[in-house]
Amino acid sequence: MSRVCQLSDLADGAARRFEVDGLPVALVRIGDDVHAIHDVCSHAEVALSDGVVWCETRQIECIRHGSAFNLVTGVPDTLPATQPVPVYAVRIVDGGVEVDVASRANDRGGARGAAGDEGGAR
Ligand code: FES
Repeated sequence: MSRVCQLSDLADGAARRFEVDGLPVALVRIGDDVHAIHDVCSHAEVALSDGVVWCETRQIECIRHGSAFNLVTGVPDTLPATQPVPVYAVRIVDGGVEVDVASRANDRGGARGAAGDEGGAR
């Protein structure tokens, strides 16, 4: 687990990009829950953190073509994306947000977008 930020650093209902152990990760806060999803759409090289968060359905919608990814499973619920995006385990400890990128689900042989991505929070 890597400590990424404080829970209070994340706006409710929004996504924010971080680099966690060399990987681009979008943290999405919904109330007191935080989801971590790989910050590259599976359809093209687009940051999911630039998209729209749908709190009620726990989805993030890609800004490029509109695929809505389930924040819990990483699976796209709508086209045109058909492949899932890795999601990572998150825990909140003493107000800090910790992410385990080694826990990734939906890895398709190496998450894309790690090399050359800008680091840190935007
Ligand atoms: S780039 Fe994300 S849906 Fe096309």
